[in-house]
Amino acid sequence: MDAIQIYGGNCLKGEVKIQGSKNAVLPVLAAALLINGTCEIENCPIISDVHHMLRLLESLCCVITKKNHTLKINTQNLSCCDMPSDSVGVMRSSIMLLGALLARVGSVSMQYPGGCVIGERPIDLHLQALRKMGVVIEERDDGFLAQTNGLVGAIHKLPRVSVGATENIILAAVLAKGDTIIENAAKEPEICALCDFLSMAGAEIEGAGTDRILIHGVEKLHEVSYKVPADRIVAGTYLCACLCCGGEIFLNEAPYEQMEAVIDAASHMGADIEKSTDGIKVACLERRKALPELCTEIYPGFPTDLQSAFLTALTLAEGKSVIKEEIFENRFRIVPELRKMGAIISCDGHTAVVEGQKKLNGAILDANELRGGAALVLAGSAADGKTIVYNRHFIERGYEDICSDLRKLGVRCEVVD
Ligand code: EPZ
Repeated sequence: MDAIQIYGGNCLKGEVKIQGSKNAVLPVLAAALLINGTCEIENCPIISDVHHMLRLLESLCCVITKKNHTLKINTQNLSCCDMPSDSVGVMRSSIMLLGALLARVGSVSMQYPGGCVIGERPIDLHLQALRKMGVVIEERDDGFLAQTNGLVGAIHKLPRVSVGATENIILAAVLAKGDTIIENAAKEPEICALCDFLSMAGAEIEGAGTDRILIHGVEKLHEVSYKVPADRIVAGTYLCACLCCGGEIFLNEAPYEQMEAVIDAASHMGADIEKSTDGIKVACLERRKALPELCTEIYPGFPTDLQSAFLTALTLAEGKSVIKEEIFENRFRIVPELRKMGAIISCDGHTAVVEGQKKLNGAILDANELRGGAALVLAGSAADGKTIVYNRHFIERGYEDICSDLRKLGVRCEVVD
């Protein structure tokens, strides 16, 4: 049935280990293409987006071996052939391969990466930047052919902050001739993870995590072994499970220092949050309070990827909350589903107003994208009675096993095939 069934209402108690970060590992897998040899990637999350990325790498004649959460990627026989459109189409991160492949083989033909329901997801900033670095791009109806006789460094003043465009420019710049500067660069921890990986391989990068990044092109990179950091969005999702259901949980390996805005919002809702050496303790023993205003922003502001989870928690908070989605144009898709459960939410473009209720009722729900789907599972965990969330495959793009993780925290949920 491609679904998840939940019997909600339990107060949470338990501990869960946070998986490796999806949004850190995907650009790192693309970066492995820049190294003519074998790289080892540890703590790699076993999720369908990684599966699609590995299929793309194998279609480029990379040899990949997997052992639990550790991958070995050998790119010595890399040759650019056609990438399977079913993988390129379903996963936006395939665009991450563009910069790396151009640096390595000089020519890439691919279809436009998948958009999704949260927004149109254009790639104009990616293509604009690569054209400045010596790439000729011939756009066609369904895709494009990008070619270069050698990438050259350039100065990029990004008109808007873009995680993916920042990552793609870095991937194109590390082996380019000369220096590259990115102004108005994204500052997400995933940018730092990518730059850590590349620096370990011999790249020369300054300013990762700031809005100005300088890359000195080098001749070649060498093999590395790298451990993927914990996923701050998965950690925030389970922190929200506690906001929704109440109780006391421990998030093992949760990256506290990357979650300041999330922890601040949860604390204002009444959660007690404690940092410890190996994770985060969360306690929600009173009914949560509403948030007068919650705005999604670029990092280190409140992450858009946790907007749906907090929206869900706020449907049960005491009072009225206002949520503003400033990053994507269509990220309130779970509102009709939450209304089926009794939530009172009004939406107007980028703003949602929530009137907190004492309870939600179990219902039959449809997930239609990754983070919204996870939020619906949280809603079912807090609701009275039974909830079924269909289209589990969206959730499996970014969560290794959300049911098993939530069961460790005391939620009665199971996969229904
Ligand atoms: C990354 O997407 C993440 N994905 C997203 O997480 C995350 O929501 C997003 O950054 C913002 O933090 C990965 O890292 C794989 P952007 P990305 O380029 O790079 C516009 C999840 O759930 N834009 O920073 O695609 C764009 O439309 C996913 O894990 C352009 O206009 O995001 C958006 O409105 C969802 N032109 C804004 O910029 C471009 O060329 C931010 O997008 C590129 C982007």
